[in-house]
Amino acid sequence: MACVNVSAVDPQRTSKKRIAVIPGDGIGQEVIPQALKVIRASGADVEMSEFDWGADRYLRDGMTVPPDGFTMLGRDFDAIFAGAFGDPRVKTNIHAKEILLGMRFKMDLYANVRPVRLLDAALCPLKGVEPKDVDFVVIRENTEGAYTDAGGVFKQGTPDEIAIQEDINTHKGVERVIRYAFEYCEEHRKLDGSPRGRVLMCDKSNAMTHAGGLWQRVFRDVSGEHPQIAAQTMYVDALCMQLVRDPRPFDVIVTNNMFGDIITDLAAGLQGGLGLAASGNIHPGKTSMFEPVHGSAPPIAGKNVANPIGAILTAAMMLEHLGLTQEGGKIEGAVLEAVKQKQTTQDIGGTLGTREAGEWVAEKI
Ligand code: NAI
Ligand code: MG
Repeated sequence: MACVNVSAVDPQRTSKKRIAVIPGDGIGQEVIPQALKVIRASGADVEMSEFDWGADRYLRDGMTVPPDGFTMLGRDFDAIFAGAFGDPRVKTNIHAKEILLGMRFKMDLYANVRPVRLLDAALCPLKGVEPKDVDFVVIRENTEGAYTDAGGVFKQGTPDEIAIQEDINTHKGVERVIRYAFEYCEEHRKLDGSPRGRVLMCDKSNAMTHAGGLWQRVFRDVSGEHPQIAAQTMYVDALCMQLVRDPRPFDVIVTNNMFGDIITDLAAGLQGGLGLAASGNIHPGKTSMFEPVHGSAPPIAGKNVANPIGAILTAAMMLEHLGLTQEGGKIEGAVLEAVKQKQTTQDIGGTLGTREAGEWVAEKI
């Protein structure tokens, strides 16, 4: 896999949407090629350029992101399609931090949008739950919170050690992601075509009063501008219990970086596992990045067993974001059919390999 010559991509030359593809590590290198196959089968008029950023490249020559890497992505591409980053050979995980968190933080992709949809009743661990009962979306704040890694350690290795991990919440950061959630609620429908109508803000303002207080005040203000949307708040622990007890009432959930990370893994469990979950890292009007929720899964990497559906649904989400709604819809329809007919990988009850599962969806389209 070679890094393309960036000067070869001339933004004036074509009206085609330009996508930067970064498969990354482990199963990222297996699921992304399947998603690309499916994008081509959908007939989407896109130009894709592949980049070899990841553990192999880092171990070879020490590069994680080239000096002007993020500027180049924002300037020359309409979207970024990424796999996963993380490799046991890179103990510090420095390349993953610089590439993945670099894109999220330095490109200011503040809204991490994670749709949670049950494609088939058989995939949900809950009894009596139908696909129409699980169709919500989590909007996770993606640029601040506890994941900026601010803080420090004092007197390390002694009984007096102090570790401080700071949770950073800015008015600007909180307001823009809450606003995004209300706008998302207005603009997006459920899978069955019915409108969305509720935004729930999840926090822990009873115990974390400073940050929670800011989220509560901003949520109250922004919800006031959207009187037609039902606004509600819930503590994160209560939310986890409710999601498992009855996922039906949930519609759009907005929350901070860490709570969003945790509840979307729980939510992935409701839809059949991490192999199915899709996400977008979005800043409206800027080059946004799309990636399956799962990581590089080293133990199953290279065995042709990883489920490509998370990556394929992520590709559909990206095409819809780029205005290619028909192509995205075609992909979602074919995935639904694959799941119904059990033409899938083993993690969700099929017998196919990664390549064969991708091939099936591409041929269905
Ligand atoms: P993981 O998502 O890679 O794996 C968690 C579990 O889900 C494993 O049992 C794995 O086999 C399974 N799984 C994940 N994706 C699957 C798929 N497509 N098909 C079938 N099974 C699948 O998370 P884990 O194990 O915590 O992390 C592994 C590495 O990935 C670490 O280096 C971690 O830092 C990195 N990571 C990277 C992420 C990213 O690039 N966005 C996100 C999460 C973890
Ligand atoms: Mg996570």
